[in-house]
Parts: sequence; structure tokens; C-alpha cells
Amino acid sequence: MNNEIHAVTGAFGYSGKYIARRLLDRKKSVITFTNSPNRENEFNRAIKAFPYCFDDPKKLEESLRGVTVLYNTYWVRFNHTTFRHSTAVDNLLILIAAAKAAGVRRIVHISITNPSRESHLEYFSGKALVEEALINSGVSYCILRPTVLFGKEDILINNIAWAVRKFPVIGVFGDGAYKLQPIFVDDLAEIAVNKGEERTNEILDAIGPETYTYRCLVRRISRVLGLKRLIVATPPVIAYMVGMITGWLVGDIMVTREEIEGLMENLLYTKSAPLAKTKLSHWLRENKNVLGKKYASELGRRKDLVSSYENIV
Ligand SMILES: NC(=O)c1ccc[n+]([C@@H]2O[C@H](COP(=O)([O-])OP(=O)(O)OC[C@H]3O[C@@H](n4cnc5c(N)ncnc54)[C@H](OP(=O)(O)O)[C@@H]3O)[C@@H](O)[C@H]2O)c1
Repeated sequence: MNNEIHAVTGAFGYSGKYIARRLLDRKKSVITFTNSPNRENEFNRAIKAFPYCFDDPKKLEESLRGVTVLYNTYWVRFNHTTFRHSTAVDNLLILIAAAKAAGVRRIVHISITNPSRESHLEYFSGKALVEEALINSGVSYCILRPTVLFGKEDILINNIAWAVRKFPVIGVFGDGAYKLQPIFVDDLAEIAVNKGEERTNEILDAIGPETYTYRCLVRRISRVLGLKRLIVATPPVIAYMVGMITGWLVGDIMVTREEIEGLMENLLYTKSAPLAKTKLSHWLRENKNVLGKKYASELGRRKDLVSSYENIV
């Protein structure tokens, strides 16, 4: 039904933007929840923006009234002085409860591959807690568990390309043999929007058609950019320190110890069949002229609440 209201968290951000775009293409009314209602965006006022207001659950519930499907992308990438995984978990429990109270019929939730309550990595244990709350909420759900996303607003793959452009030698964490299965952000959005139409409770790994070891990924990016680079196995602690210094130089946190551990523990890899069709190898070739030209800053996105993600370095 085209008069349905669909709510997307972060529609002016990364994956939320692609989900919102696809919903508008399907003639749905879309609202968004965000920390940055004034962020530059392509939607030309077609999307009404509400602040998250996790501190006022009643207000959140009011804003969600009349919404049929909620697509959640909200999360925080790492612990920092101004944001923490534990806060994101608390906030998502509030969002799920508010959605239920408001009568939202379906929640499509973007999670991560291999979440686990027992994980020593808060990213993965926090994601498991949120999944559990959603499953127990009584609201119909689809949980999508992507590995790393790629797209023009991406951080990880873009910043590998940025480093490849800048430095003659690239260190990989340890042997670089751990795997990832990158998924194109718009494929994820298409799956999310399709799943928004259904009412079956489901949990799906959302992975792309190609599997890379981290070392192969760096090599592939170097080749596509036409740059011959020495790729060296580096003790994780040294690679982390190099990342820390580079991050300090660009005013960002480039990579965290937790992220390195997650990668090295193969947590961005699953044995599931691919759900998406776009190959990273094709996308890299199509985007080689822009990929990694600018550093993409996570902290920049948290400080600058007005510019679009692509314009924040
Ligand atoms: N990006 C990846 O490669 C990747 C890989 C695997 C899984 N995922 C999962 O996919 C989901 C969406 O990721 P995304 O990269 O598309 O996210 P995003 O667009 O950067 O952010 C999604 C939403 O979370 C908010 N947010 C992000 N970081 C925050 C912080 N530190 N403090 C407060 N609010 C914050 C954003 O705020 P604003 O609206 O104000 O911008 C936005 O509303 C997440 O659940 C993530 O765990 C992502």
C-alpha cells in the first residue's frame, strides 16, 4: 500500500540513505530519525526528519505512530569519549519498545555477521543483545547481518584505497588470511526493503558474492588503482599503532583494536550463501577514479552534522 509510512533511521547517512531512496522509488512515505536533521541530503524535503530523542521515549513513540515498517541502521562503530556501544544498546532497546508501543508492524534491523552474547568484543555482544530484544519484542522482524558494506560513502574500503594511494608499503594485520564477504550497500537496501514487505520472522546473513582474504582485498585495490605496493604481514599491535598515528594525523580513529580482533577472528565471514549480486571487483573498477581520493572520517561524521557523508574528510 502506497500510503504506508516507513521510518528509516539515518536516512541522511550511509545505508539508511539507500533504503530511503528505494522506499521512495516504491512510492512509500518515508520519515527518518537522525542526530543530524539538517544534514545535506538528496531528498529535497520528501523525508521528514525527527531527532532520535532516546531520552524521551514517549516522544519517540508519538513520532512512530502510524509507521508500518521501521528500518533500523542506528549503531555506533566503536567506543569513544562521546559515544559507546552500551549506550547504543540502551537506545535501541528504547527504540524497539517505542516502536512496539506505537503499533509498528514490522522492524527490519541491520545487525552484523556473527553477533554473540559471549563475544569479548562489545560490538558483537551488543549486537546480540539488541537482536535478542527484537526477537522477544513480539513485533514481526527481519534481522539482516551484513559483513562490511561497500558504496561511495564507505569508510573501510575507501580508507584502504586512500592508504594505498598514499603509502608505498601497506601493512596487513597479522598474516591477512582472515576473510570478508563485502556487500554492496544498495543490494543491502534492496533486500531490506523487500523484507519490509514480508511478515515472516527471519534472520539472514547479508553477504556479497565474492570472498576475499584481507590481504587479497588490499592487493585487489592496489591493482585496480594501478599502484604497485608492497603488502607486508605486520604484528597487529604495530599495525594498530600505525593506524593510530595515521588517524591522529587526519583527526580520526582509523581503526580500533576491537575491529582488528573482529577481522582476525573471521567475524566478518560466514558460510552462508551470498544474498547479494554486485561484485566488489566490478564496483572497484567502476569507481577507481574516485575511490580513496579523499579520506573518509568516522569522527568527522559525528562532529559535522550538516555536510553529507561524502563531503566530510
Ligand atoms: N558500514 C559498514 O561497513 C557496516 C558493516 C557491517 C554492519 N554494519 C551495520 O550497518 C548499520 C548501518 O551502518 P552505516 O555505516 O550505514 O551507519 P551510518 O549511516 O553511519 O549511521 C546509522 C545511524 O546511526 C547514527 N550513528 C552512527 N554513529 C553514531 C554515533 N557514534 N553516535 C550517535 N549516532 C550515530 C547515524 O547518525 P546520523 O543520522 O546523525 O548520521 C545514523 O542515524 C549499523 O548497524 C552497522 O553496525 C555496517
